[in-house]
Amino acid sequence: MTKQAKIIGTGSYLPERVLSNQDLEKMVETSDEWIVTRTGMKERRIAREDEYSSTMGALAAKKALEDAGISADAIDLIIVGTVTPDYVFPSTACLIQHEIGAKSAGALDIQAACTNYLYALSIAKAWVESGVYKNILLVFPDKLSSITNYKDRSTCVLFGDAAAACVIASDIEKKGLLIKTVRLGADGEQADLLKLPAGGCRMPATAETVANCQHFLHMEGNEVFKHAVRRMELASKECLDVAGIDETAISWVIPHQANIRIIDAIAKRFKHLSSERIFKTVHKYGNTSASSVGIALDELLKEKMVKPGEKILLTAFGSGFTWGAAILHYEE
Ligand code: ACO
Repeated sequence: MTKQAKIIGTGSYLPERVLSNQDLEKMVETSDEWIVTRTGMKERRIAREDEYSSTMGALAAKKALEDAGISADAIDLIIVGTVTPDYVFPSTACLIQHEIGAKSAGALDIQAACTNYLYALSIAKAWVESGVYKNILLVFPDKLSSITNYKDRSTCVLFGDAAAACVIASDIEKKGLLIKTVRLGADGEQADLLKLPAGGCRMPATAETVANCQHFLHMEGNEVFKHAVRRMELASKECLDVAGIDETAISWVIPHQANIRIIDAIAKRFKHLSSERIFKTVHKYGNTSASSVGIALDELLKEKMVKPGEKILLTAFGSGFTWGAAILHYEE
């Protein structure tokens, strides 16, 4: 029988500290009213100084392993997707491998920014279904506060810190979410619209790059907005076509939680789904990059809102540009 990859466990981690819109009003010239109407965000979480992508990722990973009912020893491969690695190298995956004691696992980082969740799902699906690996751990930690300029009101209100994780396997004993279809896309021509300019080999760190705030995230918000809506819509439709189903077969949509207006614009494209079926966490966590889809999925499952037999559509968009969509089927 052909193997079918599925998500057999999920977990997430959110730092305790809450940064509210009222807190931001004291930091930059903004208002709760502007932030809520333009983004839908009310608060976001900020990691402690001694919390890193690796430590937050390890906490989410442990919860996903516990949920899957398997030990770290059983993991064959760890894939981490983050835009805020602890170091340029070694990989954050290696640090998480050590932190959780997954001694038999290989470890690597991937880079598709906010679309990391979908890129990692696609890679894990291929490796599990081909039989190369049995159990793969995916981890998406981001300490976006470490690359956010808290003097720039156009970006500092948007981002939060968090981590999500999941375990992918083809175990017939354990029920889970079958990964039916994943579609991915990218357009490197738009790379300049959303990037962290300095710190790579193109612009190594100097006193000048620090003075010019080039180690912070830079974004052309308006342009990103337009591309995000269009790409997530097209990726979702392509995914449905490839799966041979239409939107009436979908029970839940989990879009990347970048902005409530982006989410609402996507929701309008799903005419058969009521707005409660478009799952949202943006109001309480802000944009947490790739983990946003993973945290929403974890919450949806933990709150037992998904029923056996239902299908979930995930879609995300991020720097690169990159985008993707996936259809998951909750086993009966
Ligand atoms: N408070 C008050 N005013 C503000 C703020 C703020 N925090 N930020 C910007 N403004 C002002 C601007 O200065 C501008 O003023 P002006 O008209 O006097 O020049 C005005 O508000 C409108 O600015 P816009 O940039 O046009 O506002 P917009 O409605 O586009 O909202 C936002 C900006 C929220 C960034 C939006 O463009 C957006 O969400 N973009 C997409 C971001 C995204 O999708 N990211 C996802 C991928 S990235 C990732 O996930 C890591």
